[in-house]
Parts: sequence; C-alpha cells; structure tokens
Amino acid sequence: MRQHVNPLSRNFNEIEKIPSLVEMFGDSKLNLHLDIGCAAGEFLFDLALINTSWNYLGIEIREKLVKTAKLKAREKEINNLYFVFGNAHNILNDDQSKFIISNLKSISFNFPDPWFKKRHYKRRIIQPEFINILSNYLQRGTLIFIKTDVKDLFDYMDFTIASNFNFKKTDQQDFNYSDSFNPNKIKTNREKYVIDNQLDIFERIYIKI
Ligand SMILES: C[S@@+](CC[C@H](N)C(=O)[O-])C[C@H]1O[C@@H](n2cnc3c(N)ncnc32)[C@H](O)[C@@H]1O
Repeated sequence: MRQHVNPLSRNFNEIEKIPSLVEMFGDSKLNLHLDIGCAAGEFLFDLALINTSWNYLGIEIREKLVKTAKLKAREKEINNLYFVFGNAHNILNDDQSKFIISNLKSISFNFPDPWFKKRHYKRRIIQPEFINILSNYLQRGTLIFIKTDVKDLFDYMDFTIASNFNFKKTDQQDFNYSDSFNPNKIKTNREKYVIDNQLDIFERIYIKI
C-alpha cells in the first residue's frame, strides 16, 4: 500500500530549481506534455520511448519515486523525458516555472488522489485557483485531459474546469488521438488496475480557448 502525502504540508513550500527546457530535454523544440501526479513515471517512460517527437515532463510529490525515475531516465539515456519533485500547485504557481505552462501542448491528470472526506477536498489537485493559473498562462489550443474511476471526483473536477470560461469541453467521440501526446492510448498503472477490475472510467478533454 502506498503512503498518501498531504500536499498542504509545509515540507513542500520550498521548490527545487527548475532547469530550462534546453537543460531538461535533448530537443527543447518538441511538443511538450505534462503529467501531474505521475507516480514512478512508468506511463511517461512508455510514452517517451515510443513517441520520440514529444517531450514528456512528470511532476510527482513523492520524492523517492522522482529520484528513482530521474536516475532511470539518465541510465537509459532517454532525453525526451524529465521529472520534477514537489507539489504541482507550488511548482506551477512559482514565477520561475511559468515558462513550463506557457510551453505546454497538453496536460494530463490521471487518476488523481480522490481525498474523499469533505474537509480534505482542499488537498485535491484540481482547485479553482490552480485552474486559473493554468488558464492565465496556457497558450490557446492547449489540451487538459482528466481521468478517474471516482464519479464524485470526476464531477468535482469537471465542474471546476468548466467553470473557468477559458476552457471548453471537447467532443470526445471525434477526438483524434493520433496527433496527441498519447497516440497509442497507452494506459497508466491505475488505469490498468481499473480495467482489470472492471471499474468505470470517467474522462474528459478540455481545450484552452
Ligand atoms: C492515485 S495516484 C495515480 C498515479 C498515476 N497517475 C496513475 O494513473 O497510475 C496519484 C498520484 O498523484 C500524486 N500527487 C498527489 N497530489 C499531488 C500534488 N499536489 N502534486 C504532485 N503529485 C501529486 C500522488 O503522490 C500519486 O503518485
């Protein structure tokens, strides 16, 4: 069983220095995708190895996972993949990292922690203030992908994003994955578990307008 981390803990107030795109990636001009709450990064390793015309960045709050993932990426010499440790809110809210948001083509929130108790809702990754920051700095046309197996969390995330007038829901039926960060529809670890256990998946894609 994994340990839940309280993202509001003061331990995460200090943010590591974020390298420039040129320092993070072999070719900094490639399309950039950000996966928030990437855990050990297996999903991003799978993506980065297949789609070498994209750069992939993962943010994860569990430091040990990030250290191991960074080491693995270096050892395997994968130069379109990078990991940053910390609370994604604090990282992306910091002035030194706004360049990340403005360079993104897409962001994924895959199976975020649900924080079921009402008094813990403020620990959820998607918050109105966070969506505001994204909406202020993302380029038009950038996509946000959300996916969860918890209906209540889905409704909450959907309401929070859709309440921001800078985001519009896309028509998922017609969505063409072949041009996206995940053309082969690779699954995350949690997604594989959810499918194996025949649980529901709730997902939506939004576009910055
Ligand atoms: C349920 S796991 C899902 C992992 C993976 N995305 C998947 O689909 O298999 C949620 C992940 O988000 C991370 N996380 C939670 N809050 C976070 C935050 N504020 N910033 C960065 N990562 C966070 C957790 O540590 C955990 O690894």
